[in-house]
Amino acid sequence: MCGIVGYIGGRDAYDILIKGLHRLEYRGYDSAGVALVNDDYCTLNVYKSRGKVSELERFCSEKDTTGHLGIAHTRWATHGEPNDVNAHPHTAKSGRIALVHNGTIENYNVLKEALEQQGCTFRSETDTEVLVQLIDYIKTSTHCSTLEAVRGALKEVVGAYAIAVVDLDNPDMLIGARKSSPLVVGVGENETFLASDATPIVEYTNQVVYLNDDEIAIIERGKPLQVINMDNEPLEIDIKTLKMSVSQLEKGGYPHFMLKEIFEQPRTIRDCIRGRIGSRGSKVTLSGVIENKERFLDAHRIVIVACGTSWHAGLIGKRLIEDIARIPVSVEYASEFRYSNPVLSSHDIVIAISQSGETADTLAAIKMARECGAFVYGVCNVVGSSIARATDSGTYIHVGPEIGVASTKAFTGQVTVLSMLAMAIGELRGTLDPTLGAAMADALRSLPALIEKTLKLNSQIEHLSGVYTYVHNFLYLGRSYNFPSALEGALKLKEISYIHAEGYPAAEMKHGPIALIDRELPTVFIAPDDAMHEKIISNIQQVKARGGAVIAVVTKGDKTVAEIADHILEIPSVPEAISPIIVSIPLQLLAYHIAVKKGCNVDMPRNLAKSVTVE
Ligand code: AGP
Repeated sequence: MCGIVGYIGGRDAYDILIKGLHRLEYRGYDSAGVALVNDDYCTLNVYKSRGKVSELERFCSEKDTTGHLGIAHTRWATHGEPNDVNAHPHTAKSGRIALVHNGTIENYNVLKEALEQQGCTFRSETDTEVLVQLIDYIKTSTHCSTLEAVRGALKEVVGAYAIAVVDLDNPDMLIGARKSSPLVVGVGENETFLASDATPIVEYTNQVVYLNDDEIAIIERGKPLQVINMDNEPLEIDIKTLKMSVSQLEKGGYPHFMLKEIFEQPRTIRDCIRGRIGSRGSKVTLSGVIENKERFLDAHRIVIVACGTSWHAGLIGKRLIEDIARIPVSVEYASEFRYSNPVLSSHDIVIAISQSGETADTLAAIKMARECGAFVYGVCNVVGSSIARATDSGTYIHVGPEIGVASTKAFTGQVTVLSMLAMAIGELRGTLDPTLGAAMADALRSLPALIEKTLKLNSQIEHLSGVYTYVHNFLYLGRSYNFPSALEGALKLKEISYIHAEGYPAAEMKHGPIALIDRELPTVFIAPDDAMHEKIISNIQQVKARGGAVIAVVTKGDKTVAEIADHILEIPSVPEAISPIIVSIPLQLLAYHIAVKKGCNVDMPRNLAKSVTVE
């Protein structure tokens, strides 16, 4: 996700654009830029820099930022490292057209090659620069208007876009267009705004138009807004009145970023698997594996290093890789690994998992692994982060910025990537069972819909959370692939509600924890219909026999557990290897609603930081 802003009117565009970027920083913040049409109508000033919007402000402090027309962008990199060159806005060769873009142009390579054959040269690695060069090429080669060139270029694009365009040849015009990425027009008094959502607009006007796919907004100074479709037909304009506050808008109408990010998971999983699993078959395409085939063929052992939730994802990754790729895997806390004396060689692969890509312990573990000669593979969310740059190769999870301190969509994204990684390595080494591979690929493709279904538990869980708001301890029990799910569910609860919670392998109960069971200690059992189902039923009976309350996450229609548990949360049926992704949804919601009922600061829990960049 990136954030785009545009302005045309009587006020200084720069201040409005910068303020708008700050409002959109939750969408991405690895670089930012602004393009301003000077009042002399002869100059297009473009300023951009790596880093947050505040870096851009520092960069612009001595620059000419005058002008009443401009566009701006805050980036979440997907193509091309975060740096000054790849930052938006991007300009055409003529230097007279500037464009900002949120989305992904899937056929940008094809378009780029065609433009290069026409003599176009490119400065950046981005798909966005291809679009602005294509607009300029169409305009120059056919002598058409800027608007016609934009329309023609967009007709050649395959993918998602929300764009804002300015052109020195039309210094009183701002053009916006969208397909699959959001774009809002703010209609003020003799001024008009464009933005990825209404947060940069709401303080100036509450009159907005939400563009639909394949629509183009034509905003001309002193003229009423026009909207056309891709066939140049004028469309009726549906102006709505905004009723949300800025804060609510940043959270997409949700009360907290955490809840927003829980509900984003159908989309983020779709983004995570896009281009990596086809619409049919079980072939997985991960460039990090393809480019390092020999390493994965030669690997004698894999060591996973991570912290917190990422470490839990690593435990699931262990099961996946051992079951599917038949390589022994150990999972280490990065903080322990970095001070140990591991036996590592060039035949070993170290997988470093980190949402932020900045966790100090994980970074230190990577450094040590590389000194030992191991090949280091990253599974990160933040493109160009320190860990992403410190590894030999890797796979990004592409779930967009995760603002809530408690990790939710990043965890499901990590497990999804680890599932695909296990399948890709297994296919390479000839150990992937075709039936299992097909079942997993089908399940991964169905995940967005399955998560949508599971999210329907929200109101039931909100109600259930009222029963357990003021307990002091919780036990989370699971087996096999869902023992790590128990650890993750317990971590979610403790880190945002401050209730002590422990995750345990269910069979370990009899080796100690069962002494804790009484009426004061509720237990969450993860009991999907898998190979361990019968055994976990007896564990549930052991807890019930000692007066403990049981919340059970079960496969829909499980009548057996429904008869013995106090509460059941039904999830769709999925292969065991994929089940932790679905299981995590009700556990995220349970932790969230209990914490909200306790009045805790869900997005910024006490004592915690989103990225632990110190020891
Ligand atoms: C998870 O909810 C916590 N925020 C924390 O455990 C986190 O997973 C851990 O600090 C690792 O962070 P990373 O994934 O950014 O490296």
